Amino acid sequence: MSKGIQPVRGMNDILPEDSPYWQAVEDTARAVFEEYGYQEIRMPIVERTELFVRSIGEVTDVVEKEMYTFEDRSGDSLTLRPEGTASCVRAGMSHGLFHNQIQRLWYQGPMFRHERPQKGRYRQFHQLGVEAYGLEGPDIDAEMLMLTARLWRRLGLDSVRLKLNSLGNPEARRAYREKLVSYFSEFRDRLDEDSRRRLESNPLRILDSKNPDLAEIIADAPSILDHLDEESRQHFDKLRRLLDAQGIEYEVDPRLVRGLDYYSRTVFEWTTDRLGAQDAVCSGGRYDFLVSQLGGRHVPAVGWALGMERLIALLALGDEAPRRDSRPHAYLAMMGEEAEQLGWRLAESLRDELPGLRLTVHCGGGSFKSQLKKADRSGAELALILGETEIRQGRVGIKPLRSGEEQFEVDQAKLADLLRERLD
Ligand code: HAM
Repeated sequence: MSKGIQPVRGMNDILPEDSPYWQAVEDTARAVFEEYGYQEIRMPIVERTELFVRSIGEVTDVVEKEMYTFEDRSGDSLTLRPEGTASCVRAGMSHGLFHNQIQRLWYQGPMFRHERPQKGRYRQFHQLGVEAYGLEGPDIDAEMLMLTARLWRRLGLDSVRLKLNSLGNPEARRAYREKLVSYFSEFRDRLDEDSRRRLESNPLRILDSKNPDLAEIIADAPSILDHLDEESRQHFDKLRRLLDAQGIEYEVDPRLVRGLDYYSRTVFEWTTDRLGAQDAVCSGGRYDFLVSQLGGRHVPAVGWALGMERLIALLALGDEAPRRDSRPHAYLAMMGEEAEQLGWRLAESLRDELPGLRLTVHCGGGSFKSQLKKADRSGAELALILGETEIRQGRVGIKPLRSGEEQFEVDQAKLADLLRERLD
């Protein structure tokens, strides 16, 4: 059979067999966010192109090569959001959320980047993110990392490691950048094309190169941690003390620079060695200058986003990936018109009486045998059976589908009680 129109490369369907795993992560994350006082914000998927160019930075891979940008019918240049932070800042500024207020926000949804698709890297992918505004000190950085560590614990994940760095304030970074340019310029001939280009545009990104031929040169490069301004150094030291006191393990990685330009001071990544090249599961940091750069007041900010596809792939490698159970509790099979009429009535009154009961009512007729096959395939715990004999006796047949128990019967009037008891 023809498979019809093909999906867009790098954009995936999340099928019913997979969605329970997504729901479990989303439910757990929402619960943890709420426990820490974070509130949900929902932003549009499309923004003005200018927002991303000015916040993510003109000479980043995302803006240079990866954005889905188009002109709408009014001639405005719009872009499918490649990430959530810029939109969150825009929303906060549009609605005055930053006026002398502290905000702890979270969001989720699809993001779009025209990257070369491979395992763990897609063109439509999904992020869950948190952002906090109005807090200058390292306590909120620590809180965000504690929240993340708790999320991993709740999900039963122990294969991610935290890498931590500080990028200092913009002046310190400018001075460091010059040091780096003069250092790497000495090795210009040995640099690959990408790094040579970055030498002019964004030299810190050379530190991020995965080219093994450059590993040695990069290892000997000056460290940003030796070039921090005093305030950033104190901020970083205090953050480390807070994490140490909470028993949160991390590795300081002075080569950790981020692919987006808005960061200052703290940056971090939770990575894994179990997913191959796309090893960052969750990343973020401080961006104290973004709001003012976009025309607002000084609003300190910090946040992170995790990649749902990567997190789910990682959880799937474990023994028991968390999944929301959405299989039916019961499946009602019925035979004959009288049984159907009674069955629908019974089903609706069960739904009235037992909110949350997952009950599938068989549609489409067929023999009891074929109905019970469908009941079994649905994953239901129990099949409820209504045929002529049951109707005559005012009873319902109950066939446990998983426990190996024998089939038995119950009065129709006692069905709700039985289900309440068994399915609790
Ligand atoms: P990012 O590092 O670009 O940061 O993305 C965050 C996470 O999204 C990554 O760690 C990764 O798990 C996932 N991700 C990124 N690109 C892809 C892709 N093409 N396919 C699958 N997963 C991907 C940000 O987006 C920042 N907005 C994070 C942040 C929030 N910083 C401060 N607040």
